[in-house]
Amino acid sequence: MRKQINQYVSWIGKTDWELKKFHGDEFTTTKGSSYNAYLIEDEKNILIDTVWLPYDREFVSNLKQEIELNKIDAIIIQHGEVDHSGALIELMKQIPNTPIYCTQNAVKSLKGQYHEEWNFKTVKTGDTLNIGKHTLTFIEAPMLHWPDTMFTYMDNEEILFSNDGFGQHLASEYLYADEVESSQLWEQALTYYANILAPFGMMVKKKIEQILAMQLPIKMICPSHGLIWRKEPKQIVQKYLEWAENYQENQITILYDTMWNSTRKMAEAIAQGIQNENEQVMIKIVNTAKEDKTEVLTQVFKSKMILLGSPTVNNGYLHSIAGILEMIKGMKLKNKKATAFGSYGWSGEAVNQIIQSLKEAGFEIVNDGIKQMWTPDEPMEKECIKFGQEIAKKL
Ligand code: FEO
Repeated sequence: MRKQINQYVSWIGKTDWELKKFHGDEFTTTKGSSYNAYLIEDEKNILIDTVWLPYDREFVSNLKQEIELNKIDAIIIQHGEVDHSGALIELMKQIPNTPIYCTQNAVKSLKGQYHEEWNFKTVKTGDTLNIGKHTLTFIEAPMLHWPDTMFTYMDNEEILFSNDGFGQHLASEYLYADEVESSQLWEQALTYYANILAPFGMMVKKKIEQILAMQLPIKMICPSHGLIWRKEPKQIVQKYLEWAENYQENQITILYDTMWNSTRKMAEAIAQGIQNENEQVMIKIVNTAKEDKTEVLTQVFKSKMILLGSPTVNNGYLHSIAGILEMIKGMKLKNKKATAFGSYGWSGEAVNQIIQSLKEAGFEIVNDGIKQMWTPDEPMEKECIKFGQEIAKKL
């Protein structure tokens, strides 16, 4: 059902309370999500985005209760990913000639997924669509986070429809960011940025600078997931600039996997050493085989330094470390330090291999890491504590 935002604009999306996994198994959405579509009713009626495919019939049925479908003059698809374009097939069956405004790249992504020759109207940055009392201006935003992404600005109401940008995976009975508990909101906004937008930090920064240079008054930012930024919307813009600028908090994250607890013991002794040297630094110790990977990547994003630990197994390292390393590599993080540790029984290659992978992932390697044979005894634990103290000095 619609939620009225102002005289002309309504939210007409779907709140997904039960969503726990997004992008397949890639992103854990502990707080659900929403797929925000918007209906603008002016002299022309415009639908901005749709919802995820499983909710296509529900969406179209709800939309019909709000407006006769043949009175929709145009659809704007800001991004072709299925969580926003998923109801198009169902909708276009009923209004097949309705123009779809989108970027050239979105024509490709929509045709590639749905194999339909719809009435596409390709737009570029600066192109406008007059709809009566308002004009919509399109702003391409490639790689935020797909090549096809764009934003839409509505004058007079001063609303920026930002698609995935500035979103959060957060299902709520409320519509606006200022109505929900602040720490949960910002935690979800940061988790979303770290897991979806972090690889594109430079582009995020450039796009925001470009929009700021356009000097568009922005009263409200309407993303395609989560809550709408109504009160001081620039606060999320400022946060994005901060996050895009090689973000780090005063944190070291120790990631490890372990078979018989030797590498875990090393992790804990190293943490003790770090704490002995620097009481101010936040230390997170995470078993990558047990912790959710969305949370792991969020902690990595926040860190100044990460340590990865694995025992040597079959001349390599454990698969949870291999998997998380691959995901960390994809984040393309800059200005972060790293090293490795791990126990072994005979060959002991894991530490060197992890360091090599961390180097390839763009981390500054602070030392050669530490490896220990079999189970740490007291002198070996002391060696780990000393190792922790030494790396704390390299923060
Ligand atoms: Fe929310 Fe990139 O889709």
